Amino acid sequence: MANITKDLFVFANLDGEFVPAGQLLVDEEGSTLLASSFAYGLRYLDRGNAQEIDPLNLSLKNKEAIRGKRLVPPNNLEAFGGIRDAAPDAWGRRVIEARLKVPANSLPESTYLLEAGSDRVGALDVRLSLDQEERPAHESIHNLSYILEGAQKVEAGLPVSEALSRILIVGSGLGGMRPKASVRDDENILWMAKFPGNNDRLLDVPSIEYGTLKLAELAGLNVAKTKLEQVGKNKVLMVKRFDRSWKTSTRLVEIRHHVVSALTLIACHESESNTKSYMDIADAIRRYCLVQNVKSDVEELYARMIFNLFVSNDDDHLRNHAFLWNHELKGWGLSPLYDVMPHPVIASERYQHLGIGPQGKLATIDNAYATKERFGLSSDQANSIIDRVWRVVRQWKMYFEEFGISSDQIEGISRAFRHIDDICSPTLLKAIAKGQTPD
Ligand SMILES: Nc1ncnc2c1ncn2[C@@H]1O[C@H](COP(=O)(O)OP(=O)(O)O)[C@@H](O)[C@H]1O
Ligand SMILES: [Mg+2]
Repeated sequence: MANITKDLFVFANLDGEFVPAGQLLVDEEGSTLLASSFAYGLRYLDRGNAQEIDPLNLSLKNKEAIRGKRLVPPNNLEAFGGIRDAAPDAWGRRVIEARLKVPANSLPESTYLLEAGSDRVGALDVRLSLDQEERPAHESIHNLSYILEGAQKVEAGLPVSEALSRILIVGSGLGGMRPKASVRDDENILWMAKFPGNNDRLLDVPSIEYGTLKLAELAGLNVAKTKLEQVGKNKVLMVKRFDRSWKTSTRLVEIRHHVVSALTLIACHESESNTKSYMDIADAIRRYCLVQNVKSDVEELYARMIFNLFVSNDDDHLRNHAFLWNHELKGWGLSPLYDVMPHPVIASERYQHLGIGPQGKLATIDNAYATKERFGLSSDQANSIIDRVWRVVRQWKMYFEEFGISSDQIEGISRAFRHIDDICSPTLLKAIAKGQTPD
């Protein structure tokens, strides 16, 4: 198969308007991406409000050093993480393939990048030419039932009508595996709608994810704003887009914040994600995030790790941790928490996707406690985080009832929630209760 080089244009949305950010060259052979390179546009580099496309090899810290240069991804990777994060992931790919009527994963990476629409996650758009227009990819919240019907067909691999296939672009710019779509409410605020999946069996995943995110908020974590919508007989989880903020001048202006995943900050290949750890994310935060927020971001990450242990959220891979561009401070910071789904595992010995301590991925408080120094935490601070999270999680059933989640669903998911006695040694437990260092 021939090796083809394609010439693409990356746009970034600054103060509500898309401007060209630079030129991306990709070498492809069929559906395999071989290599890519990027050169920032000179005018883009001169803009005071330019957003960094990638904090590693496309950093804007030293603009003179990169002016006019063609740059390549770090660690011999074939793609820049900051651009790959603007590409559709499993779900978006299925939607694009359904629209174009082609088999799964058969398209070149450049096609996925180009087809994802302008409402994709983050602040970027990828276009074929400098004069290609913006392609909005969202729908009104009032069309949720129609979009849900289309999503179910895509998931089942069924053909979709022409009209439905046009509407389905609203799901193509969002990452992750589960069916979803971008929708706007009556105030024009953008939300990510997460639908039930065809394979969820008896679990009402949108309601359980909603309950768990609310629980995390009660435990003091910084969580994306959520609500549940009833669509026919289904529940749909609505997550307010944290990569957008809205400012009112003479009209409501939508500001887009570029998003990069922890996969990008750690600069590894997706297949290496399960060899990495929360400590690697903490180190990457120290290296690439705003210095004034490092302490609080790393502490928040530790609290999220503890929360994930308690609720058996073992899908905590590197794409489920994200970083947002802060326009005022011109730098990166940890995004709100998202995608937290308890996994009702039977085994009592459980494992996270990422490493959490000297015993690797083993999901115990002792393992997480042993690594607190890597998060800059004293014994007192670690004790108080664990205590704070446990005080809320221990009452999860009561909270889930308050959130309106049915007793069947509570029963169905209850194995996922862990009692501290089962994941913490008696010595450590005593020390946490007393706020001391264990002997
Ligand atoms: N509230 C949000 N605002 C903006 N981007 C989001 C939000 N929630 C998730 N994302 C982005 O969308 C991707 C998919 O969402 P996620 O909830 O992880 O879906 P899935 O359950 O399919 O993995 C995430 O990896 C993240 O990049
Ligand atoms: Mg996810």
